[in-house]
Amino acid sequence: MIHIMKLKTLNQIHNLQGKRVILRVDLNIPLLQGIIQDDTRIQAILPTLSYLKENKARVIIISHLGRPKNRKDLDFSLAPVAQAMNIPLVKDLDDTKTLQNGECCLFENIRFFPEEEQNDPQFSQKIAQYGDVFVNDAFSVCHREHASTRGITHFLPSYAGFHLQKEIDILDRLLTDPPRPCVAILGGAKISTKINLIKSLLDRVDTLLIGGALAHNFLKAQGLEIGASLYESTEIQHARNLLVNTDKIILPQDVKVQSSINRLTDNISKEDVVLDIGEQTTLTFLKAIQSAKSIIWNGPLGYTENIAFRKGTHAIAKAISEVDCLSVIGGADTISSLNDTPYLSQFSHVSTGGGAFLKYLENHMLPAILPLMEETHV
Ligand code: 3PG
Repeated sequence: MIHIMKLKTLNQIHNLQGKRVILRVDLNIPLLQGIIQDDTRIQAILPTLSYLKENKARVIIISHLGRPKNRKDLDFSLAPVAQAMNIPLVKDLDDTKTLQNGECCLFENIRFFPEEEQNDPQFSQKIAQYGDVFVNDAFSVCHREHASTRGITHFLPSYAGFHLQKEIDILDRLLTDPPRPCVAILGGAKISTKINLIKSLLDRVDTLLIGGALAHNFLKAQGLEIGASLYESTEIQHARNLLVNTDKIILPQDVKVQSSINRLTDNISKEDVVLDIGEQTTLTFLKAIQSAKSIIWNGPLGYTENIAFRKGTHAIAKAISEVDCLSVIGGADTISSLNDTPYLSQFSHVSTGGGAFLKYLENHMLPAILPLMEETHV
């Protein structure tokens, strides 16, 4: 007999009728003067919400929005989100007692309470008193050990929502038994937060393509000039160690510098700032992608805030959209760099997670997911 850990999911809850469900979601979505800029995270939770309402549960939705420093800072109110979703906003959990079967409400930003991020057990217990079961559908905040993500699971029977289940199913497949060859693409910056992720990916994938500011650290580690480009001096030795121990990493062989000039990486001048992968590198990356059967991508490959330096990132996205493979992309910057292209919708899965996506790839588990697992025997 084999023991495996499986997510307990929403459809395992018996008889939802009249049950008070505390539903943790991530409605931390970009707002500009109260107008929603991207509703992906709302769309993601609709299957769970509809299922709970159709089954006549009473649903108390909990979310955070941003990182309010002055607690109860109304600039971080969830009111615009509640309005867009056409759901009443409640500021006091006692007001949820009047919910009828099949109704739902959204509780005001849970981060207005300092106890949330402190994962205060009394606070978790207090929230739990308003529910019969807890459903977590907030993949993108599962790397946080907070009262409404992890603490509450000590006080209520806890399950994963459909969106969380979907994220985990596809990421698990990629981490345990990916169709091969499996190619990972990493870009963006902050190598210091990605060293362990890179190590973990190197154990699982066949090829790791590195671009963006992340690549500068590796070029520097190879003794190449990177001019005035962004890098982290404290991480160069780590980058060097990674390169010594693997032949899976492919780095840029040429780059675009300011004013869009293409330079080979052994010919960068002291004044240059590297802002995109070059033409040769794009071709090399495309070759790896065209033969891939699965692809995991996080981080833009250039300074995509500037239209002139999106070429590499867009060429890679286009290639992925044309390849028949399992493709997953995650991270807010990566996704927003492709928002105005037709390629994003061609991915097998677009993760709603930023930090959570990276942490899951790194550790194959997250603190708020662990309590939703049960042991099964096959
Ligand atoms: C996110 O947007 O990545 C999540 O909502 C988590 O937000 P946080 O980084 O403020 O915890």
